[in-house]
Amino acid sequence: MYLYGASGHAKVIIDMLNASGVKIDALFDDDKTISELMSIPVKHQWNRESPIIISIGNNFTRKQIAEKLCCEYGIAIHPSAIISPYASIGEGSVVMQGTIVQSSAHIGKHCIVNTGATVDHECVIEDYVHISPKATLCGNVYVEEGAWIGASAVVVPGVRIGKWSLIGAGSVVVSDIPDGVIAYGNPCRVKSVHKTCCSKRIAIYGAGGLGREVAGGIQRINQAGLGNWNLVGFYDDAKPKGFKVSHLGEVLGGMDELNAMEQPMALAIAVGTPMSRRMIHDRITNPMISFPNLISPSFKVLDPSTFKIGEGNIIQDNCSVTCDVEIGDYNVLNGSNVMGHDVKVGNFNVMMPGVRLSGEVSIGDNNLLGVDSVVLQRVKVGNNITLGAGSVLMTKPKDGFTYIGVPAKKFDFK
Ligand SMILES: CC(C)(COP(=O)(O)OP(=O)(O)OC[C@H]1O[C@@H](n2cnc3c(N)ncnc32)[C@H](O)[C@@H]1OP(=O)(O)O)[C@@H](O)C(=O)NCCC(=O)NCCS
Repeated sequence: MYLYGASGHAKVIIDMLNASGVKIDALFDDDKTISELMSIPVKHQWNRESPIIISIGNNFTRKQIAEKLCCEYGIAIHPSAIISPYASIGEGSVVMQGTIVQSSAHIGKHCIVNTGATVDHECVIEDYVHISPKATLCGNVYVEEGAWIGASAVVVPGVRIGKWSLIGAGSVVVSDIPDGVIAYGNPCRVKSVHKTCCSKRIAIYGAGGLGREVAGGIQRINQAGLGNWNLVGFYDDAKPKGFKVSHLGEVLGGMDELNAMEQPMALAIAVGTPMSRRMIHDRITNPMISFPNLISPSFKVLDPSTFKIGEGNIIQDNCSVTCDVEIGDYNVLNGSNVMGHDVKVGNFNVMMPGVRLSGEVSIGDNNLLGVDSVVLQRVKVGNNITLGAGSVLMTKPKDGFTYIGVPAKKFDFK
């Protein structure tokens, strides 16, 4: 047998294999300063020797190495482990001292069932999972790929733990945990995003007030388990690189830096003027940038089967739509916006908090609708209008003009 990774975790596996009478020929490790571990030679060049066990505790690193090596893998089971003959253990996995794996449980590939852990009947443990010492999984628990269950955590029967999530030590998990989060406590609750392979990088263009609001919205999406965003920072051409945006992060550069970025990243354009939003969007030429919809967990859709939405929209708290509503691309609904049946919204519109659109309203592109403004039923708004705060638009406005009042009238700036 060979081990890949000359770590503390490897020392335990060496003990386990010794106890089972399995000879370890060598370990492999990239660190050239290590030449032996527990009197076993450590080599730095792997020539497809196998079978091998990846003796690295980090789930994601184990996955990366397993995908790279792609060879015959061994299994290590300590003689003191009690394993049901009806349980199955995948290749590359290690089942440590004093563990119990009950009937019909399935342990995937490259998993760690650590000292004294219990995996009860019919549990399914997907690949690259780590069940830490003394953790107890009751019957029918489902643990998805890459999750890490902390020491002495208890997971009650039938609960599902999402991919790459981390359950804190000593937690009592009483309900399903979404993908990619850190959750802990009794009862176990989601606390933050687990920044692993499945978290997605996102930045915000615009380091002003709307930028901070959008950052808050992203945090709420993560906390609700509806996304797994890793906010890397802000871009802004009007603020210097390194400028601190509250506790949320800092400015990483402007448009040049954004367009030069070499890794995939999502971007939210947090600028509240419709034409500026469009211009910023049009200046982004980097194919690495994508524009997700960022939709508050509190958004309500009366009939989701008839709701359509494009990309790059930001929908903040307490917005709702009824049925047959269509929203295009890059709009901002800045909170408490309401849309009735058959409303159609184009692109790059900004709706300030409290905007209400009655049934069958259509809104073109680049319109700015002020705080608490209302567009009455069947009114067709074209492009580039501004509707003043608190105004009620009752008839079709002319493109490019500002309307204010109740009923809203064209405002002459002279
Ligand atoms: C859950 C965990 C990942 C949190 O780590 P973290 O994000 O660095 O959190 P912090 O240490 O900054 O703690 C943040 C707060 O959460 C609390 N907290 C941390 N872990 C907790 C846990 N497991 N249960 C309850 N509360 C916990 C801290 O006391 C702290 O509270 P405070 O803000 O009131 O002071 C970590 O504590 C943990 O439990 N890891 C698992 C370790 C393990 O089982 N290893 C097995 C190796 S084989």
